[in-house]
Formats: sequence, C-alpha cells, structure tokens
Amino acid sequence: MFKLHIHGDDPIAVAAPELYGHFAEHIGGVIYDGIWVGKDSEVPNIEGFRKEIIEKLRAIDAPVVRWPGGCFAEIYDWRDGIGPVEDRPTRINWWWKNDGRYEPNTVGTHEFCRFCQLIGAEPYFAANITATTPLDIRDWVDYCNSPAGTTSLAKLREQNGSKEPFNVKYWGVGNETWGGGGNMTGEMYAHEYRKYSVIMDNTAEGLELICSGANHADWHWPNDTLRILEPSEKHMSGLSLHFYCGQAGHPLTFTEEEWYRQLRQALDIERAIQRNWGFVVGYGMEKWARLVIDEWGCWHRGGTGPSTHMKEYGIDPAPNNPDCVENLFEQQSTMRDAMVAAATLNIFNNHAEKIRMATVAQLVNNLHALFLSGGEHCICTPTYHVFDMMKSHMGGTVLRISGSHGTIERDRYSVPNVSSSASVKDGKLTVTLANLSMTEAAEITLCPDAMELADTAEFITLTSADPHDCNTFEEPEKVHLTRETRAFDGAVTVPPCSVVTVTADVK
Ligand code: AHR
Repeated sequence: MFKLHIHGDDPIAVAAPELYGHFAEHIGGVIYDGIWVGKDSEVPNIEGFRKEIIEKLRAIDAPVVRWPGGCFAEIYDWRDGIGPVEDRPTRINWWWKNDGRYEPNTVGTHEFCRFCQLIGAEPYFAANITATTPLDIRDWVDYCNSPAGTTSLAKLREQNGSKEPFNVKYWGVGNETWGGGGNMTGEMYAHEYRKYSVIMDNTAEGLELICSGANHADWHWPNDTLRILEPSEKHMSGLSLHFYCGQAGHPLTFTEEEWYRQLRQALDIERAIQRNWGFVVGYGMEKWARLVIDEWGCWHRGGTGPSTHMKEYGIDPAPNNPDCVENLFEQQSTMRDAMVAAATLNIFNNHAEKIRMATVAQLVNNLHALFLSGGEHCICTPTYHVFDMMKSHMGGTVLRISGSHGTIERDRYSVPNVSSSASVKDGKLTVTLANLSMTEAAEITLCPDAMELADTAEFITLTSADPHDCNTFEEPEKVHLTRETRAFDGAVTVPPCSVVTVTADVK
C-alpha cells in the first residue's frame, strides 16, 4: 500500500496547456497519408485533412502543433509552399536518402495553418536558419502575421486565399543546430540566434522565439549558448530540449528487463529538465524564458507499423518511389509507450514552472505516434488515450505530491513503483497515477492535505491484459479507456502497467 499526500496548500505552478502539444514533420507518413489525404480523396476529409484525426485532436484539446520539422525545417523554403498547388515545386526532402521520397509542397503555410484552425491549436513554426537568410525568415513572419492590406507580403497572402493573418506566435529559431541544423557549436549558434531573433522579433508583435537547445544529456550546449545569449533578454522566451528514449529491445516483443530499461531511460528526462533549467536560472534568464521540450518520446527500430503491410491493403506508401516499402521511422506503440507518455506528462506537470511547451514526436505514422493511418484506416495508439485521460491537467494548478511509493529494483535499473501528478482546475482535483510495474498491482491511498474531496470520483483507466498489447487496423480498440464514476474514499487500485486518472470535486 502506497500513501500519496496531495498538498492542496502547496501549488507548484499552472501547467501550460502547451505541455500537451504535438509535432508534425514532413517525414515518412506524417503529413502525406497521415494528416493529409487530399481534397478529392475518398477518405473522409475536411479540406484535404483526414477527418478522423481532426475530430480526435479536437477531442483531446490539442493546444499546439510544431511544423514543418525537425530536420526537414532546415531545407524548407516557405515560398515553395504558397500559391496555386499545381505551380508548387517538388523538392528533395531532407529524408530522401532514407526513403527516396520527394516533397511535393502540397501542404504549405496556408494548409498547415488551416489544419491548426480546424483542430483548435496554435501553430509552432520551426524556421530554417541554415539555408536561408534572416531576411527570408523576416519575410515568412511578415507573410504570416502582418495585418490585412498592409505589407506586400500580407497582400500576397490575401491573394493566396487568406486575408486575415495567421498570427503565428511560436517560432523556433532553427532545429537541432548542433546536428542537421547547421552542425554548429553552441557558440556559433548563439551568434546566429542573435542575428535572426532580433530581426524576427522586430517584425511582429508578441512572438515567442525558441532557441535551439541540447540533445538529451549534452550539458555543454546550453551552457555555451546561453552564456552568449544572456544579454539578449527580450528576444528569447524558450530554450528547446530534445529527449528521445533510446532503443530498448523490440517495440512489440520487449522483455521484462527491456520494459524497465525503457522506463528508466524515459524517466531520465526529469534530470535533463532540471539540468537545463539550472542553466536558464544560472544565467538569470528565468524571468523571460522557460524550457520547450519540442521533441520527446520513444524512438524504437522502425518497421513495425502498418505501412510495412500497406501493399496488402492496396495502399502504396510512396507512390513516387517503388523501392520504398514503409513509412520512415514508423513504429507500433504498445502499453509500454503509453506508460512512457504518462510518466513523461506527469514529470512535465511536476515541473510546470520550468516548462513553457512540449511537443511529442510525432503525431502520426512515426515515432511515438498518437495515430497510425493509411488509406481509409486510422487508429489511435495507447499513447493517444494517455493524452485523452490526462487532458484535465491542461491549465490546471499543479499541486506538490509527497509520500512513499517505493522503487522497483532490477540488476542495472531502478524505477519508482508509481509515477504521479495532481492538479486543480475549476473546482476539481485530477490525479494521474501510472503503475510502472510490469507484474504487480499498486494499492494506493490518496491523502488530500489542506483540501476536502467529494465522496464520489470519476476513474478513467487505461489497461490491457498484456503490456505488449497495441491497437492495429484489425483490432483498433484492443487498448481503450474505461470510465466509471463511483464512491471514493481515497483508495485507488492501479493494475500493473496501467494508468488511472481520478477526478473528484474539491468541497
Ligand atoms: O523526429 C525525427 C527527427 O529527430 C527530427 O527531424 C529531428 O529534429 C530529430 O533528430
């Protein structure tokens, strides 16, 4: 029996809704045959976007979507993606060496902003700073955000179908600038950032500019960059961090040891958050900048997603390349991935004062996806359900939790038995409990301190008979949520490898 005290009188911070954000790169099957099926498609669509994904993203209150990359952003010329679709150029995609696909530019700025409007999310653009000039990016900001009828680019936007500005607020100044985004040192990038950011910031009101940050546990990068950026106060509101959990066995047939190894890797994001935040605070930047974890999730070996069998479904994953047999980086998602998602979102909640935004990589048919689709098929992964069951935390005031939950010890790893977070919003307390044990149920007593709870609560549970379970085109609902409202005295049983969200009125 574990006792968790929820301190009603010890708020941490409001969890920004943007902690529950998404990422859609022009890579593999994320955009084409992922979110986009085309206006003339037989697949139900809204203005070319897959209807089912739009509805499902609305249902989880998706707050923000990052676009167009990732690495793809660093070869993207925004001018390729505007104007009549038939006139748009086909370009070499950043990833063409991996899968031979070209970029048709069918989905560009107007289409992507429309997608965001349809789902009710804010767009977060990643600007190319290695293959363009500051003036090119100034022009993109101008095109997107200048009021109707003002600049020549605002008039061009109107000519292309959008009189009103898109008001894109979030802009990443480069992506992974230590790697694909220019292969720079931290110092080199800091100087580039200063050039781009001062111009971008001067082009529109209210932009939130995000500085490209470290990969995983590279502690040198934030230090080298922030040292130089510290005086540029008003031009930076976010420091990016990318954190993938490495490969821990096969995504579908992992062993018990690999289950815990995967979770251990995932939980280490907390240390990365603390260390990166330490640099922000160390340079006195916490008054205007917070962390933006704009790529996170499990990165398994590819080849387990449904596109591997697309031809059996009569679908060609890459019509312009007969050698391409599957969507790049597409992976199946099991209950293990759902546990990583729940534990990670709990960590984000518990560090809400440090984090401005987080976008899981990636939305569909790729790493740690919420959806797997192809042709008429579209299913939700267990990870989608985690976002669904935890959405009440968005905008809630996170409360400190203390207590004993013990640890699970393995030869080389130890993980806590339970991952948890709690928040209050609109007079309701929401607690999410993820039982990280692969085999043992967790009996938990929730003890509210300085707060009284109603004697009924809603219990939302994500569980499955086997930790390896996942949803497929054949069995789309194998892993699903159950909801129940019943008497509540503080006791919660969480089955092994399961997530439970409890919501109760605060009296
Ligand atoms: O998410 C896939 C890739 O991972 C992104 O394009 C890149 O930013 C990262 O290395």
